[in-house]
Amino acid sequence: MTKPTVTLTDNLSGKSVELDVLSPTVGVKTIDIRKLQKELGYFTYDPGYLATASCSSSITYLDGDEGVLMYRGYPIEQLAERSSFLEVCYLLYYGELPSAERLQWYENVITHHTMLHEQVQYFYRGFRRDAHPMATMVGVVGALSAFYHDDLDIHDPAQRERSAHRLVAKMPTIASWSYRYSMGLPFNYPRNRLTYPEDFLHLMFAVPTEEYEIDPLMAKALDVILILHADHEQNASTSTVRLAGSSEANPFAAVAAGIASLWGPAHGGANEAVINMLREIERSDQPLEHWVKRAKDKDDRFRLMGFGHRVYKNYDPRAKIIRELANQILDRLPPGNPNQKLFDIARDLEQIALSDDYFKERGLYPNVDFYSGVIFLSMGIPVSMFTVMFALARTVGWISQWNEMMSDEHSRIGRPRQLYTGAAQRNYVPLGQR
Ligand code: CMC
Repeated sequence: MTKPTVTLTDNLSGKSVELDVLSPTVGVKTIDIRKLQKELGYFTYDPGYLATASCSSSITYLDGDEGVLMYRGYPIEQLAERSSFLEVCYLLYYGELPSAERLQWYENVITHHTMLHEQVQYFYRGFRRDAHPMATMVGVVGALSAFYHDDLDIHDPAQRERSAHRLVAKMPTIASWSYRYSMGLPFNYPRNRLTYPEDFLHLMFAVPTEEYEIDPLMAKALDVILILHADHEQNASTSTVRLAGSSEANPFAAVAAGIASLWGPAHGGANEAVINMLREIERSDQPLEHWVKRAKDKDDRFRLMGFGHRVYKNYDPRAKIIRELANQILDRLPPGNPNQKLFDIARDLEQIALSDDYFKERGLYPNVDFYSGVIFLSMGIPVSMFTVMFALARTVGWISQWNEMMSDEHSRIGRPRQLYTGAAQRNYVPLGQR
């Protein structure tokens, strides 16, 4: 069989180059342009990586047109319905679903790494009480490397694995402490008898004066939300983790960089932005059509938060699952509760936008963040913690992608090129002559 190639001809010089076409197991064929610069003397230009594969990966696959998301080949719908977050963590990192014995081993390892060094508490105490929990997260996660410096040989798979276990295990403790600190509440310690989502709810909400009762529906909903957010191939924060890690920075530093990237409202900050938008709509006396009109106006910076996705141009499969989850949770809450009102606005807004040509033509559909915020509010998780929840879930994706990169003998430091648009060479002008 002939090897698939494409030939690129430079019309200026008449020179041609034959480039290999790489075939993925599923998805879009990819042109290998590595010899382009050497043979034709050109770089390629693709701001925002709209058509550029920055790496090869066997972890997550998504097809934006078909609304498909798979972890290691397993559809997200099946995992959300039948798996648990820790089983998904195992799958993402190790590549296969665990046997019952391996799952028990993994759960045990994660459970026994949940505590933080007592000294870590002092990091929190250094922050202002009104610090955004994401600011605290960036600092504390980066600082973990100061506690495990004897275990940071990134070329040793066993040490990489230990760092991965530590990050997945400690993230609920770190995340909950960011919240507890901001509220002036005492830090809770993890409980080994609880499952991962149960323990997080306990870390967040238990108070020393009372027994904390875990709501099984909330624990289940949290587990599903964590599964849905666990990985999403080469998004901004994951690419940031890979780029930071490609310089051989330690995994805690690389994941802290990922958390910083996740923070922005166009990425993980969107769920927070959705609730702020819904509340603004609720407070205003303007009809929903007014907001939709504003979102379409190019002179207005207002956008419908929770709508649109760089890759999903048909629908976001995670949004479908989470919408159903939100329905279940809100059905159980007493009528007239404030979250119900926000949920009603979200549902109506979705209907109006989905029947509007502007949104239809551009493939703008609700994404996962459109409904996740309403669920978090129902759990008692404040808006400022929403992106932290995303970071908690995505940690396993980041560390699995980082490990994949570090295990690849061909991996090199990431070093994008640029299209320079600045001044050509000119001579220094002495201060008195400017
Ligand atoms: N409201 C109104 N118009 C929009 C929206 C929106 N939410 N999103 C995109 N558009 C328009 C945009 O103005 C542009 O129109 P035109 O072609 O006339 O110039 C067109 O749709 C394409 O938009 P884009 O900004 O070029 O698309 P992108 O792929 O660069 O951006 C996005 C994707 C997610 C950043 C963007 O849709 C957005 O800002 N959405 C709101 C924020 C949001 O919900 N983000 C969460 C993403 S999902 C969580 C995650 O994976 O991180």
